[in-house]
Amino acid sequence: MTNTLIVGNWKMNNAVPESLMLVAGLEAHIKQSPNVDVVVAPTFTSLYSVGIAIADSGIKLAAQDIFWEEKGAYTGEISGTFLKDVGCEYVIIGHSERRKYFGEINETVNKKIYAALRNALIPIVCVGETLAEREGGKTFDVLEKQVKSAVAGFQPKDFEHFAVAYEPVWAIGTGKNATEEQIEESHKFIRNMLAKLYDAPTANNIQLLYGGSVKASNCKDIYKQPNVNGLLVGGASLDAKGFADIVAQAPGQK
Ligand code: PGA
Repeated sequence: MTNTLIVGNWKMNNAVPESLMLVAGLEAHIKQSPNVDVVVAPTFTSLYSVGIAIADSGIKLAAQDIFWEEKGAYTGEISGTFLKDVGCEYVIIGHSERRKYFGEINETVNKKIYAALRNALIPIVCVGETLAEREGGKTFDVLEKQVKSAVAGFQPKDFEHFAVAYEPVWAIGTGKNATEEQIEESHKFIRNMLAKLYDAPTANNIQLLYGGSVKASNCKDIYKQPNVNGLLVGGASLDAKGFADIVAQAPGQK
């Protein structure tokens, strides 16, 4: 049985004052449940202040990226040690925007997952096909390649705390979300692949999240899909009431 995991990915929005206002709103509106984990992913510069602000709230902290080395001459990068130091418990890895704009590839995603686990950070690994790949009938090939290379070299014990987010690139920030059938089909494919690579208990323990234009008005049917264990929410996580409404509709354990 896994908890429902709901992650708000703030992307490059909210300086420190706005971040603090948003978490104050979340604390006011979110009713905590033992079966639902709520996580926010502010920008690097807001992590420290948000971490302090949410310390006693039950809301957890995620970073939007990580570098695979711990320290040294890597200008502009942030290590897992530093993320842990400011209170992060989760880290988003391989988001499609990082793949599209910043040269993230499957091999670097794999190295970043190692770095996360080394620092006891829970990875939220993003995978998903582009529109051209879907229209070309390549969705499952893409997912297989992304998932297999992400988890290369890991053992079942590494998946005790682990999330994979299926985010079809064409559904991110576009207002078009995938149909429930498309979501369940991809989630089931990923679950079965993980079960084949490892074993069924390991695969069932991995939280499979859906992301792409999720909002309070469409989350209910997505939650209902048997292989959906949570959501990765972008745009709609920037509004405290809207995000709290998404959390309020979450089912308990699956
Ligand atoms: P969106 O973003 O909810 O704004 O589509 C989701 C994501 O990129 O994680």
